[in-house]
Amino acid sequence: MNFDFAQLISQLKGNKYRRIGSGSCRNVYDLENGYVVKVAKDVRGILQNQIEHKSYLTHKSVFFAEVAAISENYRYLIMVKAKRITDIRIVLRYYKVKSFDELMKNPLLEEDLENHNIGSGDLKRASSWGIVNDVPVLIDYGLNQSTYNKYYRNKLFGRFRRLNYTS
Ligand SMILES: Nc1ncnc2c1ncn2[C@@H]1O[C@H](COP(=O)(O)OP(=O)(O)O)[C@@H](O)[C@H]1O
Ligand SMILES: [Mg+2]
Repeated sequence: MNFDFAQLISQLKGNKYRRIGSGSCRNVYDLENGYVVKVAKDVRGILQNQIEHKSYLTHKSVFFAEVAAISENYRYLIMVKAKRITDIRIVLRYYKVKSFDELMKNPLLEEDLENHNIGSGDLKRASSWGIVNDVPVLIDYGLNQSTYNKYYRNKLFGRFRRLNYTS
């Protein structure tokens, strides 16, 4: 998908879009067209945008929310908008499994996670999931082992240079 990131950035600067979420390293804005943009706050957000994009391009399972585009510098990632999930049991029920561990044994999902070294720990959280077209899918799947080890394991929170829209 060809996407006009220059226009998007100028609209973000003009506060055209509502912020609907914020995680440890990305802000999420509603584009009001069925998609959101995830804006990296720092280097960790850039890495997670990159991994989400790459994982989506090569995915084989049904669990990854669609990534429609990414900017050249990886700061901006366009993802399908999902409805919030507050209880992981909604996911388990939909996929007809009794536990999260059983869900993680899905061979295609295992393969997708292994291909990009994505740890399953975070995926247990209901907030890593959302509902798209009545189907629960992962919306926060960009944290791989090397990013985790480098930036999260030692809890170096708040030590990263904040990015602004132009950098
Ligand atoms: N595709 C999406 N649709 C709707 N809301 C989303 C989507 N992706 C993320 N969000 C919201 O934004 C928050 C932060 O996004 P997330 O991907 O978790 O960022 P981080 O990597 O910083 O944790 C999420 O907890 C969720 O509430
Ligand atoms: Mg998150």
